[in-house]
Amino acid sequence: MANVVIVGGQWGDEGKAKIIDLLAEKADIVIRYQGGCNAGHTVVTGDQTYKFHLIPSGILYPGKICLIGNGTVINPQVLIEEIEGLKQKGIDTSNLYVSPTAHVTLPYHIALDELNEESLGNNKIGTTKRGIGPTYMDKIGRTGIRIEDMYDEEVLSKKLDVILPQKNILFEHYNKPVFIKEEIIQFCKKYAEPLRQYVKDPSEIIRNALSQNQSILFEGAQGAMLDVDHGTYPYVTSSNPVAAGASIGSGIGFTYIQQVVGVFKAYVTRVGEGPFLTELKDMEGDRLQQIGREFGTTTGRKRRCGWFDAVTARYSALVNGLTGIALTKIDVFDDFDEIKICIAYKDTRNGQIYEHYPANLKLQEFLEPVYEVLPGWKQDISGCRIFSDLPKNARKFISRLEQVTGVSIVIVSVGPGREQTIICS
Ligand code: GDP
Ligand code: IMO
Ligand code: MG
Repeated sequence: MANVVIVGGQWGDEGKAKIIDLLAEKADIVIRYQGGCNAGHTVVTGDQTYKFHLIPSGILYPGKICLIGNGTVINPQVLIEEIEGLKQKGIDTSNLYVSPTAHVTLPYHIALDELNEESLGNNKIGTTKRGIGPTYMDKIGRTGIRIEDMYDEEVLSKKLDVILPQKNILFEHYNKPVFIKEEIIQFCKKYAEPLRQYVKDPSEIIRNALSQNQSILFEGAQGAMLDVDHGTYPYVTSSNPVAAGASIGSGIGFTYIQQVVGVFKAYVTRVGEGPFLTELKDMEGDRLQQIGREFGTTTGRKRRCGWFDAVTARYSALVNGLTGIALTKIDVFDDFDEIKICIAYKDTRNGQIYEHYPANLKLQEFLEPVYEVLPGWKQDISGCRIFSDLPKNARKFISRLEQVTGVSIVIVSVGPGREQTIICS
């Protein structure tokens, strides 16, 4: 198998984990390359449902090497809880490794995330409040604590002597509790020991894998439209979910990567604030939300729902360099009479048509979707296993999506289960 990046094509929650779990069987290594416990990745196998926040979704295969890369941000408490939860279910975690250069989310990052959202008021981002933005701020600002610092009290203490007074001035200003160095050191110590066996420089594993032509699967979190550079800024996360992030966040140059598969829902969902041109704020939206069971995996928030947006999908194909699409949740439409696809945007002021995604959010306020309407198939497709099993109208829908996105659909998912998958030849 080639080295493949699995990336969210939309605003996250596209079903990436299901696709990772599926492809992980044939991969040698699975790497999470960015984001933190803002991610909620669901894998359903038989009667078991697993929800991952930091651990790669390939962990369910015994002995599979799973790496948490340098580009991630790690709340050690969440990671330990996740490891313990898996062990209790009898899952082998002995081949899980965490990069020592990944950054640590500390309690003050979470408090800063909350404070920032509070200060923004009506303009809030709608973050997961997991401290993700502030952890990446410290990384880029060169004041971050890395996993390896948890094992060197002298370094940790010196760093905190600089960081904490800066943070505490802010907390004092806003009448919030301040953070005490000794408590942060104790927090790090508490989790450093149970994590020790997992902390390992992954370059040796990666070198060996590449020299033996083993295959690597890169697990993206979030999605292209939440990318800090390419998404709907500032309503984005603070990392680079796009495929290029896989290289930076794992330490594997991009010439080693052969394929990029974008995961797209057959419709679109978004959690948190920010533009969403095809959003349905009516009963149709509620219907998608209910049938698709669209609740955030991490925060439990209701996901906003809308029609498939081919304009952002084409943009996503460009910024990710997609070689294929995995289309998920098409079964959610089983009972729909009609399905819409947004093929362009129209400027309501002058009728100008936009076929390419305009990044300017101010302009987006004046745009409305131009829809194409396709007939539904009105039958249960969750049992289909090969492409020709699908009803004619479902096949038409899929081939129309290929045309409007310009990318081949290589996988079609017709349910949450591993087996509810069609590999397109
Ligand atoms: P991720 O963050 O991209 O991994 O996606 P989430 O796990 O947050 O959300 C996807 C949800 O859709 C999960 O509950 C999956 O079990 C479910 N799911 C994935 N693929 C399908 C599918 O083809 N059909 C249906 N009905 N559910 C799916
Ligand atoms: P997975 O990996 C969907 C959204 C938040 C918010 C914005 C910024 O499961 O697809 P953050 O806490 O990252 O600073 O929040 O990004 N967000 C996600 N939305 N799926 C995710 O992850 C998300 N991770 C963050 O809702 O709008
Ligand atoms: Mg999710």
